[in-house]
Amino acid sequence: MTRLICVASGKGGVGKTTVVSNLASAITKLDKKVMVIDGNVTTPNIGFHLNMPLTPTTLHDVMRGKARIRDAIYRHETGFYVLPAGISFDEMKGVDTARLSEVVANLNGTMDMIIVDSAAGLGREAQSAMDATNEMILVTNPDLPSVADALKTIKIAHGKGKQITAVVLNRIRNHKHEMTKEEVEEMLSAPVAAEIPEDLGIPISIALRKPIVQTNPRSPAAEEITKLAHALVGLQYQKRNFGLISRIFGFIFE
Ligand SMILES: Nc1ncnc2c1ncn2[C@@H]1O[C@H](COP(=O)(O)OP(=O)(O)O)[C@@H](O)[C@H]1O
Ligand SMILES: [Mg+2]
Repeated sequence: MTRLICVASGKGGVGKTTVVSNLASAITKLDKKVMVIDGNVTTPNIGFHLNMPLTPTTLHDVMRGKARIRDAIYRHETGFYVLPAGISFDEMKGVDTARLSEVVANLNGTMDMIIVDSAAGLGREAQSAMDATNEMILVTNPDLPSVADALKTIKIAHGKGKQITAVVLNRIRNHKHEMTKEEVEEMLSAPVAAEIPEDLGIPISIALRKPIVQTNPRSPAAEEITKLAHALVGLQYQKRNFGLISRIFGFIFE
């Protein structure tokens, strides 16, 4: 059985694509067959995070009926599969995002998990990602605008009968003006499954076009995502105790 999961948010820029690329890499390390689909059809960017921005055949070609799905699937160097979207503005023409459900249905049964990187907001594109999947990982930052928009996303997902599998609180700086985990849980009526700190290693890893679980697996952000990956597949995570030097230079020893 393939688990079909969309990674969504209300507000944009909260860290969805970062969570998708890292989770895919971390879950692959747990011997699962994973595919990432760029469901962010109008402003796709998973290709930039994964160093595959200009693939010859894309999800757009598939959705326009101009290519077979299998010709638009690529393999990331860490082992998971990627169905990228086309990045040029022209490629969007004539694409109906509702066709994402057909694409995902066609891939059902071929993977252990398909993770769809959703567009932000509550519009048609974001709803197509929800419609194509059964479960949702909701990403939010610890501030009121993000959490208020996350709440709307949860309501829409519930209205569609979708399960909220995890709420991910990203970019925690432990600042006194930030919302606490408990406040977020109360507002969303859902438990927070992962708390990812603000980490300079993340923009650095995006610039390097690799997930942080690959570039600096011992960083607190990478560890939290790895812990979430374990929880998603039902495995216990043993937090490794690394010293400061090892955390900073961990990539050398991996
Ligand atoms: N935990 C974090 N610490 C620092 N920067 C982060 C973190 N998570 C995301 N970012 C930054 O936020 C920006 C938006 O992240 P992205 O994953 O593209 O969000 P979304 O897909 O929701 O639009 C990126 O530039 C990324 O570097
Ligand atoms: Mg994104």
